[in-house]
Amino acid sequence: MGPSFVLVILHMTGLILGGAATTTTFTFSNNCTFPVWVGTLSGGGSSELSKTGFPLPPGSNSSLSASAGWSGRFWGRSFCSSDSSGRFSCLTGDCSTGQVSCNGEGGAPPATLVEVTLASSGGSGAAGKDFYDVSLVDGYNLPVSVEPAGGSGDDCRPAGCRWDLNVRCPKELAVAAADGTVVACRSACEAFGDARDCCTGEYGSPATCGPTKYSKLFKSACPAAYSYAYDDPTSTFTCVGPASYSLTFCP
Ligand SMILES: *[C@@H]1O[C@H](CO)[C@@H](O)[C@H](O)[C@H]1NC(C)=O
Ligand SMILES: *[C@@H]1O[C@H](CO)[C@@H](O)[C@H](O)[C@H]1NC(C)=O
Repeated sequence: MGPSFVLVILHMTGLILGGAATTTTFTFSNNCTFPVWVGTLSGGGSSELSKTGFPLPPGSNSSLSASAGWSGRFWGRSFCSSDSSGRFSCLTGDCSTGQVSCNGEGGAPPATLVEVTLASSGGSGAAGKDFYDVSLVDGYNLPVSVEPAGGSGDDCRPAGCRWDLNVRCPKELAVAAADGTVVACRSACEAFGDARDCCTGEYGSPATCGPTKYSKLFKSACPAAYSYAYDDPTSTFTCVGPASYSLTFCP
């Protein structure tokens, strides 16, 4: 019995256990007035998606599919260009590969992150639900929304942050371009590194790590996003599938 035969058997088993809906579609739309380069990174042992980075011109959209059980994150990179030697880099969310593809590298904070864990095939894993959230725990660079379609459940609702936090970012957290334009807003944890903002050390539990004046600012602008590590559980959304998801930059 050759290896390809074993793969065929495993694949067929997956189809039988998972039923018809073995993939989930994510559609990325750019509603910003400027280009965005999407980054994707798989986690929890999932293999990388067919693309780990791609350009999304203003007004365009592009789709990616992920298998049951996939877990990972998406983010947008802004103010990207290639230098004279062809090395690609971005002012925000850069994944430091020198290419548009992130190839398994994460984005540099501050970046607004969309975090997803899909229900595993058979509906048993992850309680048979897709989990998703938009996180500002690593800071903010772009407004992003996630809208589910076709799923069910009370928590199967739009998540994300529609506000431009860059315009209201406190000076001490702001990341500015050469011309002074604020392009991203750091989390207080990243900016100051203290245990209270980072929910580490004696603040390393939900009971001891509460909101700060900075996380409250993020939360007031983006109520449907995580503002700090132990933000209230309503920042996590779930859908009983099959569902598809639309991610919009500058919704
Ligand atoms: C994606 O772009 C195509 C072609 O421009 C358009 O017809 C379609 O409505 C867009 N879809 C979404 C979800 O924006
Ligand atoms: C795109 O942005 C405009 C405002 O600039 C807004 O009116 C519109 O609803 C947005 N579209 C989507 C799909 O979010």
